[in-house]
Amino acid sequence: MASLTIRKLDDAVKTYLRLRSARNRRSVEEEVRVILRDLIEGRGEPPTPFSAPPASSSGPAPQRTGALPEASITLIIGGGIAAYKSLDLIRRLKERRIEVRCVLTKAAQQFVTPMAASALSHERVYTDLFDPQSEFDAGHIRLARDCDLIVVAPATADLMAKMANGHADDLASAILLATNRKILLAPAMNPLMWNNAATRRNVAQLQRDGAVLIGPNSGEMAEAGEAGIGRMSEAIEIANAAEKLLRPPVPRPLAGKRVLITAGPTHEPIDPVRYIANRSSGKQGFAIAAAAQAAGAEVVLVSGPVDLDDPAGVTVKHVESARQMLEQVQTALPADIAIFAAAVADWRVANEGEQKLKKTSAGMPPLQLVENPDILATISKLVEKRPPLVIGFAAETEHLIDNAKTKLARKGCDWIVANDVSPATGVMGGDRNTVHLISKNAENNNEITVDSWPVMTKEQVAIELVAHIVKSVTKKSPEPAS
Ligand SMILES: Cc1cc2nc3c(=O)[nH]c(=O)nc-3n(C[C@H](O)[C@H](O)[C@H](O)COP(=O)(O)O)c2cc1C
Repeated sequence: MASLTIRKLDDAVKTYLRLRSARNRRSVEEEVRVILRDLIEGRGEPPTPFSAPPASSSGPAPQRTGALPEASITLIIGGGIAAYKSLDLIRRLKERRIEVRCVLTKAAQQFVTPMAASALSHERVYTDLFDPQSEFDAGHIRLARDCDLIVVAPATADLMAKMANGHADDLASAILLATNRKILLAPAMNPLMWNNAATRRNVAQLQRDGAVLIGPNSGEMAEAGEAGIGRMSEAIEIANAAEKLLRPPVPRPLAGKRVLITAGPTHEPIDPVRYIANRSSGKQGFAIAAAAQAAGAEVVLVSGPVDLDDPAGVTVKHVESARQMLEQVQTALPADIAIFAAAVADWRVANEGEQKLKKTSAGMPPLQLVENPDILATISKLVEKRPPLVIGFAAETEHLIDNAKTKLARKGCDWIVANDVSPATGVMGGDRNTVHLISKNAENNNEITVDSWPVMTKEQVAIELVAHIVKSVTKKSPEPAS
């Protein structure tokens, strides 16, 4: 019977299986087996449909998938004194939301019990290759492949010798031979065993085969009076090494760069209770802030009034009016990159009422408008503190590209992200955006290029824009506009 790879199932099915198996305190594979058996025998609990709440759901925030295991490890415990430390390792891996399924060799069971490993892992523990319960669908293959990583701790001299020579005469060695997953070995043995030529040869072979080693450390042995290299690494060291293999560090191409971003509308007061605003939601600027932060940048986001959560890891300055926004932008300088995505009001009311304006028989109050400071032009034309890359946004309802090109020249910025915000596009306040990146090529006589992107979510636009920024800043900082 073909083995079922749980990891390849739909997310919704996986979530259903995980919730149901957790509730029944069974492993996911066991739960699938129970479901299939019950189905064949005409019994069984009807599946509770699980579907992720729609993104726009107005109910309580959906539970974060982070509460579910994020990775899974098959932990092989070999027969050495250090096996007791592997019980602590199970606990430390589970603290990091890693699912752990334990395999104990025959010798390991002389040092720790399957019961202890099961209680700590909340999973069934596997000990036998010829186990009819798990081998009816090739259980050793599932243990070898339905995981993200295999950890062997302690990796005994014997287990490593078997591995190096391709033995498969018990469950542990069969899994190690049948796996296509990365293997992390935490050797533990007497220093003489570790230094023995046979162990040296086996370890070298295993490293050539791609296994990763953590330790052994040097120190006192369990045997009285013996010391040297051979102590198994501490549980926390093994958990850290496992986590590094499971979650390799994400590239942070903007590390060391400071990015300043504006987002949202501005509110220009008419009197203490009324204001002039626009329909900007701030979603695009917030998405850019999150993408720049994920790329490793230090991000300062100056936001007008929006109904969005502050992006994690970003310094957010909340403002109301264009003048407050300019002040916060100036305070946040210097920056390596400035992105002005806010829809700043062009005008404000000159004669802002100190008290709420009242209806009178004299008719409507005359509202005089004056021009707001132009944040993009002000920062683009700075001499000393001008960020090396200044990007503006052009929200247009007609002649998009032409107007954006004119804006690029007039404001003195380096790039303009132009988007059509006419009502039919649904861009203002919506989740998608169709943009054109208009850039001035400093290396080629300030030639203007227009790069039109397909319709994307605002998050995708943000990621794409950050990718362009990374390419630009890692190539060469653009020259300030003349
Ligand atoms: C008390 C005791 C402690 C042992 N400690 C270790 C050890 O730390 N490392 C090791 O490689 N073997 C150790 N051994 C030997 C292994 O248990 C033995 O080689 C066994 O066959 C390993 O089986 P396994 O690799 O299938 O777990 C120890 C044996 C005894 C009796």
